[in-house]
Amino acid sequence: MVIRSTTMTHPPSSAAALSFTETLSLLSLSLASFAVIANTFQGDGAPLVASLAFSGIAFAGSYSMIRWLGPTFMKAGLKGKDMSKLHKKEIPETMGAVCAVVYILIVTVFIPFPFYKDIVAATSGGGNRDVVQETIEHVQRGRFLHKFPHSKLAAYLSAIITVQSVSILGIGDDLFDIRWRHKFFIPGIASIPLLIVYFVDFGVTHIVVPIPLRPYLGELLQLGVLYYLYMFAVAIFCPNSINILAGVNGIEVSQSLVIAILLVLNDCYYLLVPYPHPAVDSHLFSLYMLLPFIGVSLALWCHNWYPSKVFVGDTYCYFAGMVFAVVGILGHFSKTLLLLFIPQIFNFLYSAPQLFRVVPCPRHRMPRFNARTGLMECSVTEWQYPPKPVVAKVLKLLHRLNLLRVETNSQGQIVESTNFTILNLWLVWFGPKREDRLAIEILAMQFAVGLFGLFARHNFALLLFESDNLNV
Ligand code: UD1
Ligand code: MG
Repeated sequence: MVIRSTTMTHPPSSAAALSFTETLSLLSLSLASFAVIANTFQGDGAPLVASLAFSGIAFAGSYSMIRWLGPTFMKAGLKGKDMSKLHKKEIPETMGAVCAVVYILIVTVFIPFPFYKDIVAATSGGGNRDVVQETIEHVQRGRFLHKFPHSKLAAYLSAIITVQSVSILGIGDDLFDIRWRHKFFIPGIASIPLLIVYFVDFGVTHIVVPIPLRPYLGELLQLGVLYYLYMFAVAIFCPNSINILAGVNGIEVSQSLVIAILLVLNDCYYLLVPYPHPAVDSHLFSLYMLLPFIGVSLALWCHNWYPSKVFVGDTYCYFAGMVFAVVGILGHFSKTLLLLFIPQIFNFLYSAPQLFRVVPCPRHRMPRFNARTGLMECSVTEWQYPPKPVVAKVLKLLHRLNLLRVETNSQGQIVESTNFTILNLWLVWFGPKREDRLAIEILAMQFAVGLFGLFARHNFALLLFESDNLNV
């Protein structure tokens, strides 16, 4: 929620200044990163090292800009009230926009690095020292562009376009609070460049059937256009699912960092496979997209963790979710990606009754701050009218199963029920907690579930499929 007003007071500009230690650390990090980049570009352009160095610059750039731009964002009306504090202070919102812009600039400047060798091979002036000049015609034209991996470049560019489009949607949403039904499908539209590249470049639309189901379905199941619909749905789901697991200081960025770190671990696992396995290229691409993402997100995390000094805004949620969808789709591991989204999938399914208005859905479903105890408690929805008998029965059943808490009046009619989010459910199970404690516990659960998902992916997959794509 963004409050727009020009009459509010703004924090003193000194609040936006970096301390001496911060300046020194960020400057050292930036200089070291620039030195590494200059070195890699003079050498053979080792892209992974360059990507790490670019991520350092992304961190330093976002960290300082988030601090400097805070008062400017407030002045422009981009601010929100921290509802879970005693003094509901206003702080800058939409800071995810800073991250998205820095990220887009960094991944754009990075473009030449993964293609350095190919550019050298494809052009003469730069020195086609790596290739033997095949025909006199090529020597005269001086270019070997047919050797350039245009498809890889197309994949990289489509990724940037998609992330850029969804960031614009996020900024629009933070400015104008766009309605759910209007903004829900936009990430899907933003993913069209990815789907085209997938179609032209990879085009695999079958899935390998698990061994027990093979007598009925055969070894491969051709999904055709349904596979594209599935990827379209992944692109819609990832950004929106992060946006609805929100409302506690730091949870949006931290959950994204957990997913990104687990994906990086998964990528590193594939890098151990001897080159030139095709999976290595996909996972290198994933690392090039994820490392700068971790850089900008860590910078935002430093400002957004409890007690928040800035809010991330919907821009960050859309941007983060789309980075994951991009690497999952173009890296050809969208199913592994979904394993890392298990808490978000559960939160979405659990939220469905409120999202689809079977149960009333208030503007905010975040846990409620109890000013007396200083702890977070379940937030509730009050029922103005008693629910339909079948809904009431289901709600009471969920209450009995300890999956919800409902309050009834003297006639046994439901008068309030807790909001359907995983954060509230956690509080139903484990009782009131301080805001940061709640976030840490949810994140620990997410990390454990994700790690188990990856473990299962790489160990148990062989029980269901006789090979996984490491062995083909
Ligand atoms: C989504 C959730 C909503 C939740 C909100 C919190 C759904 C359908 N929507 O809505 O239930 O309440 O995110 O982000 O599930 N805020 C805090 N503390 C925080 C984070 C946010 O107080 O740690 C408040 C601030 O007032 C901030 C506002 O939430 O201005 C941001 O809400 P916004 O992102 O606009 O809500 P939605 O994404 O629409
Ligand atoms: Mg939001």
